[in-house]
Amino acid sequence: MKLMRPQFRWSHFTARPNKRRKARPLVAGLLVTALSLVAFGQACGPSFQILDKAARESASSTTLLSPEDRAACAPRSSLPEPTDLTSFVEYLNALPRPVKLSCIVMNLAGPIELIATHSQRSAQPASSARNPRLFIRRGDLLIGIVTSGASAALVELGQLLPNTQQSLKAEFVLPIQSDLISEADGVEHTRLSATGGTSCGTCHTNETQVTLPSGARAFRSDILRLAAQEEVPLAQIQYEAEECARLNSRDERCLVYRALVSSGGLQRREY
Ligand code: HEC
Repeated sequence: MKLMRPQFRWSHFTARPNKRRKARPLVAGLLVTALSLVAFGQACGPSFQILDKAARESASSTTLLSPEDRAACAPRSSLPEPTDLTSFVEYLNALPRPVKLSCIVMNLAGPIELIATHSQRSAQPASSARNPRLFIRRGDLLIGIVTSGASAALVELGQLLPNTQQSLKAEFVLPIQSDLISEADGVEHTRLSATGGTSCGTCHTNETQVTLPSGARAFRSDILRLAAQEEVPLAQIQYEAEECARLNSRDERCLVYRALVSSGGLQRREY
């Protein structure tokens, strides 16, 4: 039987006065554009707005944080890079009291790798597409934050365990008042009772207890990923930061967005 091979012909790539051939790429192009618009619209949810030209021009990302904003979050001792549960606790302990979300974000060196979702199905639901749940990635650590609503008082942590589909879980309540906190504080806050497992285990299955190098007890459980259709594009964060700058707002929510955008770049990173 004769093999059918794709035939390469230059004529496929050169412009020819053939209307039917020329129309195909045009139709395909229109179709791709229409499909991406539909997909984009769905991913962003109804409250997504693209960058407004006036907002973009009125604010430059270099002026999004003032020297006073930075001074209010200046660390009280040297900051470690928070790449796992242990170093994140050291990082929190180096920040001024009470520890606010804006100060946690402001002291992260950019570029910041993250992914955003408007999912409301977790222990830290996003309050809208304009206030998504963000997972900041540093080394093996996922730092889950939300910028408004009840979830804004929580930092949810997942330390990814290499070569597994599991992470160690912990949770801190903001603002942190006590002078020094420990890993155990973050783990114990997730516990249902002193003898039982964690509240995270309801959704994050296959939970087991482990001992950290520090001797603290912790729990590992399955990773849950973002639903693709609930992802919020990073342009939304840029938009919120510039809206905050345009309205001259410095509330805690706005300081978080300003800090994210002023960090030296945002990069999308899945986990
Ligand atoms: C009601 C279900 C539910 C509960 C309870 C829950 N989560 Fe999650 N979690 C999710 C979902 C769903 C995702 C995927 C992202 C999203 O949709 O928000 C997720 C993702 C995560 C992630 C990122 C990936 C991973 O699994 O490491 C972390 C970290 C996390 N949750 C921490 C916690 C912690 C800590 C607790 C307990 C205090 C907890 N979660 C309790 C539903 C839940």
